[in-house]
This record gives sequence, structure tokens and C-alpha cells, in this order.
Amino acid sequence: MSIVDTAKQAAQGLMQGAMEKLVPLAPDSWIPGGVPDPLIARKHGLIGTPVSRLDGALKVKGAAPFAAEFRFDGMVFAALRYATIARGRISAIDGGAAEAAPGVVLVMTHLNAPPMKTPAVFGSGPNAVGPADLPIFQDDRIHWNGQPIACVLAQTQEQADHAAALLRFSYAEEPSTTTLAGAKANGTEQGMFFGQPLRNDIGEAEAALAAAPVKVDRTYRTPRHNHNPIEPHAATIAWAGDELLIHDASQMVTQQAQTIGDVFGVAEGKTRLTSPYVGGGFGCKGLWDHQIIGAAAAKLAGRPVRIALSREGVYRTVGGRSLTEQRVAIGAQRDGTFDALIHTGLSVMTPHNNMPEPFILGTRCTYAARHIALKVEVARMNMLANTFMRAPGEAVGTFALEVAIDELAAELAIDPIELRIRNEPEQDPVNGLPFSSRHIVTAWRQGAERFGWAGRDATPGVRREGEWLIGTGCATGTYPYYRMPGGEARITLARDGATVRATVEVAAAEMGMGTSTTTAIVAAERLGLPIAQIEVGYGDSAIPGAIMAGGSQQTAAIGAAVIAAHNALVAELLTLAGNDSPLAGLSPDEVASDDGGLAKRDDPARRESYGSILARAQRDSVTVTKAGSMPLELMHWSMHSHSALFCEVRVNAVTGELRVSRLLGSFDCGRILNPKTATSQFRGGIIMGLGMALMEETQFDERNGRIMNPSLAEYHIPVHMDVPEIDVIWTDIPDPHTPMGAHGIGEIGITGVAAAVANAVWHATGKRVRDLPITLDKLL
Ligand code: MOS
Repeated sequence: MSIVDTAKQAAQGLMQGAMEKLVPLAPDSWIPGGVPDPLIARKHGLIGTPVSRLDGALKVKGAAPFAAEFRFDGMVFAALRYATIARGRISAIDGGAAEAAPGVVLVMTHLNAPPMKTPAVFGSGPNAVGPADLPIFQDDRIHWNGQPIACVLAQTQEQADHAAALLRFSYAEEPSTTTLAGAKANGTEQGMFFGQPLRNDIGEAEAALAAAPVKVDRTYRTPRHNHNPIEPHAATIAWAGDELLIHDASQMVTQQAQTIGDVFGVAEGKTRLTSPYVGGGFGCKGLWDHQIIGAAAAKLAGRPVRIALSREGVYRTVGGRSLTEQRVAIGAQRDGTFDALIHTGLSVMTPHNNMPEPFILGTRCTYAARHIALKVEVARMNMLANTFMRAPGEAVGTFALEVAIDELAAELAIDPIELRIRNEPEQDPVNGLPFSSRHIVTAWRQGAERFGWAGRDATPGVRREGEWLIGTGCATGTYPYYRMPGGEARITLARDGATVRATVEVAAAEMGMGTSTTTAIVAAERLGLPIAQIEVGYGDSAIPGAIMAGGSQQTAAIGAAVIAAHNALVAELLTLAGNDSPLAGLSPDEVASDDGGLAKRDDPARRESYGSILARAQRDSVTVTKAGSMPLELMHWSMHSHSALFCEVRVNAVTGELRVSRLLGSFDCGRILNPKTATSQFRGGIIMGLGMALMEETQFDERNGRIMNPSLAEYHIPVHMDVPEIDVIWTDIPDPHTPMGAHGIGEIGITGVAAAVANAVWHATGKRVRDLPITLDKLL
């Protein structure tokens, strides 16, 4: 089981165990001696102040090297060809023209690729992050329309692209399933998420629904979505003897190094993967076929390789979000309290991967209901493996749930915010655990005040300015707090003249969201040093431990590791300080870092600077490495980030044109560590939610399983003109049970947005759109 599994399974497992109350509440293990961390209880120093991204200037100047900007001597460039059938075999390849084309160094297909093991698929083993359980270039089989089937290496990218276009393939097609109806006819199965069934049954939900005096029962649909980070996937790869070096764009650096190394049988520790800068990830900057193909081609050619996917290449080979069909049925009393909450439906997967869209996850924790039934089923289709995409599950699940809530509010003639507050649960509705920190009602009240919700006329379709119909809507978002085990931090304190500098290294990833800056803030805070004296190392598999930028858990995982390493550092410094120090005789629990040194907690006058300790010990530096504690907080609490979203839309009554004119996100995500990067995170998520609401849709050709709009010209995402001013506020109430008091903020931003927009569209027009995206044809 991978480290990811362990934590996610722990979290998911908890959600299953509604009946078993787990264990008595215990102090969280990362708090030494069970004493709450003083930094959590109050704002302190840098935490909570807006710090600009430390890598911002480098990026603006073009001085931050991305994966496709590294160079090796003798490097050649790779181009891929993609299969054009959904299932079958390659029966013949004509490579003559390609091989003879100018600049060509190698044409690699399954006929000449080196032997490689099948990458271990995500969730199948320690650090396994393979995209699907499929061999790569090892046989003639085609598993999806778009599968890479040839790689050409040439002296320039243009030569490689040209030669790849000259290859001719013949296929022996085999029956495939490329229609949703066909997939359903083949039968569905219980969806599993990290080894746990996506299913919960509490009480008799169908019977309670039937008996409820007021009810809604609707089907909602969300389409396939593709990933479109600004940086297409790329890797620059070199072999040095039996060692493999990869400059990649990765949000799971250590895990990818290990999975790729295993594919090639590289000895442990001999695969080095770096990823200092990533132009957006959102779940897709992991291991796909291209890194393995690139490494294989480099091996075969004996030359370093740069493999940079075109935008089309990203669509063909990098999975996204699969479609969903969701039923939400709610039965309520006249006072609005829920008797029954049913959220069931279907998602699709390939025969070779294990990532259904887990759209019921958010429904598990959002509302109290006397009877609950949740279930995700999956059907199989021959297509590209789908994967994580920003708030997998919650992003589309909250669309269905939160539109249904709005529909019920209209039935009941209760304000939709009031309806939500009336169904606010006292404890986790599914597993019965207490919430660690849930201030969603505060978020609603603050948001309503800021947005100007009071006095809203709930009648749909009555506000008009000229041709424009105007409406407002709202929705709740949630995303779970996770913290994966396996994180380590290495802290080095070094004397630099009269100054002491700290280097804090974590095997974590920075996708552009501000992780390196936030890590510097947290480290500066813990060490009692100015941020200018902190250097953060990350994005390199040579750093011990393994932390991934996924599940909105990285900041907590880094924080726990930094806290553990800092505690170890304090102990080490006290040993070095010895008997001549003013700190002599104190135990680590009695001292804290403060203003460039250690001080006794209750007598700060008793202190010694780091420089003085190191100098007297005749040391230039001291280094400690320590793992963060196990995420036991997940065993004791139901932990989530929350949001209340508000939206105003204007819909043209003549043309159906839809403009989102105002958006407000009111968040409850524990302590916000860096308001500047957090605001960008929230806004970015909301903009992605806006795209999901209005335009994003992968057009999948059901005749042959091919994606028809593999470019940003035809797959629409919001541009500046589509995005209004987005207002962001937060409760900033720290969670006493997490490192730094923080919850994750990477994925909460997108959740609920599509529902808020759809609800505003209904309020403006009286038209209830239940299938995304809300294009203008649905409004005419
Ligand atoms: Mo996220 S979808 O865990 O990058």
C-alpha cells in the first residue's frame, strides 16, 4: 500500500465506519507531550501576513527553469504518434519514410523498445503512481484511441514532429465500448476509492423519501473534463550508466522517481527526478506514458531526450475527469429538516485504471439527514485513463447536491441559506465523528453580509435591466482535510559570518500555488528567523521522505514534518549548547525558538543565539532530518475545508448569453497561512469552477472513442473577459487539531461554484439547468 493509500484509506475508512465509534479522543500525535502548539492559538510573526511568492521574480524574468528548459549535451527531441482506433492491434508499421527523414535519430515502437515492466498503477504499492495497469510499448495492443504507439527522436523538435507524421500504421480493430449506453448495457459495478466502496447506507432512505411531505428527486449530468495546465507536460531525460536523471513537471516527485525507476529496473536511489517549477498541475502532473517512453528512447538511442507534449498530446495521453450521471433526492419536513438524502449515480472508467469520479464524498459530511443513501457505480469504456482533477468527486458532486438543495428551497419557500443552516450537522452524519473545526455557518453569515443577500426576492425571472435578466445564487463547498504520512524535513542551520541561515528541505512539489513560500513562512516562524535567512529546498527526489502535492494535504504534511524536525533540532542544539550555556539543564519542552536562538519559554531572558551555540560547539552547521508524525488526527475527527459561494449572473433574454457579474467565496479553512497566495488559490479554484459551470466539456466521439476537441481553440476555459471581480473572504479560525491550525485550500475553491452559478441562472431566468456546461442553447 502506498503512503497515499494509507492516509486516504484511513480517512475513507473512517467515513465507512458509521457504526463503530473508533477510539477515545487522544491528543494529536504531532503535538509534543500533547500540549497544544502556541503558534496555533494566536497569530504570530509571519503566519497570516501576506508574503509575495519567493519565486515570483524568477518566473517573471524567465529565470525559473521548467522541465522543457533543461538541456543536456547531445540532447535530441522526441515526438509521439497516437493510435486512431479505440481497441485492437497494430498489424503493420511502415517506418521507412520516417527513418529516412532529415535529422532522425531513432524511430521507436513496440517492435524495438527496450523491455520494461508495467508501471505500478496508482494505489497498488508503495509510491506507485502509474496511470493505468498497462504495459507501455511492449506489445501490439491498442487500449484507447490516442494511445502513444511510436516515438521519433530527431535533432530538432520540428524534425521529430515531421518524421512522426510520416509513419504509417495498419490496425486490426477489435470490438470496443465507446458509447455510454453500451457501457451501461455491459453492466455496472460498485465504485471503489482507495480500496473502499463508494457507498453508505444509514437507515431506510428510499422509504423515508417516499414518506416525506416535501421532496425533490432529480438527475444531474456533468461531462468529461480535460486538464489544461498552462505548461503542457514535458520531461528532459538522461541516462548516466545505470542511473536515470529526469527533469520533470511533477506534483509527486519522489513517487514518480520510484515508479519510473522500477519500470526500468534501476537500483534504488539511482533515479533522480527534479521538478523545481511546474506550470500548473491540478491532479494531472503525475506519471503518464511520455516520461517512460522518453526514458526508453533515451536508453535505446544512447542520447539524452527532451519530450514535450503538444497540447493535443496532453489531450491524447493525460487523463482528466470522467463524466457523471447523478441522482439527488431529498425528502424534507415542512420546516426544512431532511428526512432522507439520497445521492447515487454513475461514473465511467477504463478497464485498466481505478479512479472513478467519487462524487458522493462531499455529501458524506455536509448535511444532517435522518436517512442517507450514497452510492457511486462505474461502467467501463475503452478510453484514456481518467485521473484526479481538482477536487475529484467534490467538484461535480457539489453541483448535483447543491442544485438539489436550491430546488428544495424553492419547493419549501425557505431561503436557501437558511435551509442549509437548518440542516447543519452536529457531528459527521456518516461516521459520527466530531468535527475538528467547522464554522460554515459563520462563513455563510459573513458571506451573506458581504454579498448583500438580505432582502433577496426569491422569485425567479423577475429582475430585468433592458435585455438582461439578473439573478443571484449560492452553494456550499466542502473538501476533506488530509495529511499523508511519509513526509520528512531536513533542517540545516549554518553559520554565515555573523548570520545564521537555515535550509529547510522537503521532498514536496511546487506547482505554482505558493508552497515554497508558505514553507519558508512556516519554517521562519518555527525557527525564529527572518524569512530572508531561510532557504527552502523541494522538488527533488534526492531529498529524504515523500510528500505529494495532492489532496490539498501538502501544506499540512510539510508543516508536520517541519515541526518534527524543528523539535529534533532544538534537542540537538541543547546538546551542543552544553553546560556553559544559559540554557544548560533545560529540556527541549522548556525552550522555544525565538529571535535567532533558543529561549526558555517562561523566562525568555534565559537565551542563547544559534550562532553562539554553534560557535561554542566549534560547529559550522548542524543538520537534523525527521519524519512528521502519523496523521492520527484523521482518526479522531471529521475534518474538512468549507465554503459558502455567492454568485450573480446576467442572462440576455434575447440571445441567451450568460455573464457572471459577481462572485464571492466565503471560506472556512482553518488558519490561512499566507493571505496573498491563499487568495490566488481560492480565486483560481473559483475560476476553474466558472469554467466547469459555463464552458468546459471534452467532446468524446462515441463512434470511435476519439476526443474531438483536443485544443484550447475548441475546449473552452474562462478567459479574462469571462471572469468578474472575485471577492474572497475567510473565517480564519484555526483548527486546534492540525499543524499550524490550517486546512487545505487547493481544491476547496472549485467546489460548489458550478452549483452557485446554476442556481443564479435559475433565479435570473426560471430555467433549471441540470446538465453542465450551462451553454446559451440551454437558456433559449
Ligand atoms: Mo489534486 S486533484 O489532488 O492535484
